[in-house]
Amino acid sequence: MEAPKLRGPKDVKFRILEVGVCGTDREICAFEYGAPPSGADYLVLGHECMGEVVEVGPEVEGWKPGDLVVPTVRRPCTDPACTACRAGHQDFCYTGRYTERGINHYHGFMTEMVVDDAQYLNHVPAGLRGVGVLVEPLTIVEKALMQVNLLQQRLPWQCAAEPGKPAHHCHKAVVLGAGPVGLLGAMALVVAGYQTYMYSRSLAPTKSSRICDQIGVKYISLQEQNTEQMARTVGNIDLVYEAVGVPPFAFDVLQVLGTNGVFIMTGVPGPFASVPVDTSRIMKDLVLKNQVVLGTVNASREAFEHAIGDLNEFYRRWPDAVNALITGRFPIDRFEEPLQSTAGIKNVIEVGV
Ligand code: BGC
Repeated sequence: MEAPKLRGPKDVKFRILEVGVCGTDREICAFEYGAPPSGADYLVLGHECMGEVVEVGPEVEGWKPGDLVVPTVRRPCTDPACTACRAGHQDFCYTGRYTERGINHYHGFMTEMVVDDAQYLNHVPAGLRGVGVLVEPLTIVEKALMQVNLLQQRLPWQCAAEPGKPAHHCHKAVVLGAGPVGLLGAMALVVAGYQTYMYSRSLAPTKSSRICDQIGVKYISLQEQNTEQMARTVGNIDLVYEAVGVPPFAFDVLQVLGTNGVFIMTGVPGPFASVPVDTSRIMKDLVLKNQVVLGTVNASREAFEHAIGDLNEFYRRWPDAVNALITGRFPIDRFEEPLQSTAGIKNVIEVGV
């Protein structure tokens, strides 16, 4: 690739330090998802990244060389009637004609240098240099929690206080899947005050179950407790954060969602064989228990800001657990390894450290 130049006065050029690899990247490599820019016969990968500013256009305010930066992923469609994109909310684009860097119709960040408009860039404090690459996968739960907080204004959601004592944290959350999205989600839920459980396939101890121990999340393996048993252990499940993309698992747990509960789906499944689902139980509970099922994708600038704030807090509370999320760092000439294997939790490619 030719090194990019500033295209306009509001552009910023940054050098890429690290790029994270996720399931979406692996699907793109398997030609199951994603698309190159129009007219191109290849796509530069990379939508999770951390960079360092090297040059700013004359009209850019608030950025200088040396600043650490994480860009958002999605860019708006051009339809004047798309109220979401026109309001800077391309994460809710109506037309589907948005682009996504490194995923859909727009080259990504796995290059030495990147140029982007300052409006899509987010400041990362210097103390997060080693883990800032986790910001993008963390935005998924941040966007979800922003929506849950709005949704739950429909009822008295505050926890009751005992006489003479401050309100205790009463809400219970179950995370499905102890991969990077699930573990970052669990951390955000703990910081948001939820009593949080991780429900995942492998038997403890694993790298992921140890991280759960460190952050105060109870790890339950599917091999130890079936869904009904897990639900009895937890009590009223106020929130489920699904982070595996396995439909039979998700719909099984949907059946034990609690009263006034919200079930958040974030996984994008591949094809799965059909399984029977007790639709009458699900529909009856949705109605009689005031439940919500919420799908969520991509993230706004505000979600990135929340993610950066939260990552700072995670790092203050649990530095070892946050570092343990990054299980592999690969030099650029070994880029194929993390794109071909699912080993470890979060693998990153070092582009220009
Ligand atoms: C990315 C999102 C993107 C989604 C669908 C995810 O891996 O994190 O930014 O919207 O894929 O393309």
